[in-house]
Amino acid sequence: MRIFLDTANIEQIKEGVKLGVVSGVTTNPTLISKEGHRDYEAVVKEICSIVNGPVSAEVVVNDKEAMLIQARKIAAWAPNVVVKIPSTTYGLEVTSQLSKENIKVNLTLCFSVNQAILGALAGATFISPFVGRLDDAGHDGMALVKDVVDIYKKYEDLTTEVLAASIRHPLHCVAAAKAGAHIATIPYKVLLQMTQNPLTDVGIERFLADWQSVSEGT
Ligand code: G3P
Repeated sequence: MRIFLDTANIEQIKEGVKLGVVSGVTTNPTLISKEGHRDYEAVVKEICSIVNGPVSAEVVVNDKEAMLIQARKIAAWAPNVVVKIPSTTYGLEVTSQLSKENIKVNLTLCFSVNQAILGALAGATFISPFVGRLDDAGHDGMALVKDVVDIYKKYEDLTTEVLAASIRHPLHCVAAAKAGAHIATIPYKVLLQMTQNPLTDVGIERFLADWQSVSEGT
């Protein structure tokens, strides 16, 4: 399973990339707006220059024609841009057209197996089941990830990658890996949580203390 960072915060992305474990970034209009009033294009271009991998940037219009026009513009911002399109009827049509034009699509806001099947048939590069938001609504978000992975595996021609999104905590990452998700996109906070274990810290302290006592004795 690969790890993408789910943020538009430049410092977090730089720090994550330094660890050598982040191979992409996903953003959405909420994440972009959290970073203030910078120009959308400038922010996405900067992220694309930092990350050696796919960077998802979402369309911010809801009309089919406007979506298509905006998606083409976003796709031209950088070679590693992936356009995020919502999993709607129009979104599907837009995805089919963009995939014919070799523009990569991350079909977002996926909450059902049917949306995922249609997204793959439309040629989406990534499908993003929103795990946390399904959990919030009293459903099993990770069960959707597992179902989609299992179904895609049955059909060789469905090459869409499953990108587990709306990840809220480290256990979600473990479950996404067990479910066979190709990618988990995670907040920076969750990435840091994944690196930490109190037993590791206790172990380091003990090793260093033992080492210190021996060196003091020699
Ligand atoms: O990847 C989608 C993500 O940004 C949504 O997360 O926590 O707002 O449901 P959340």
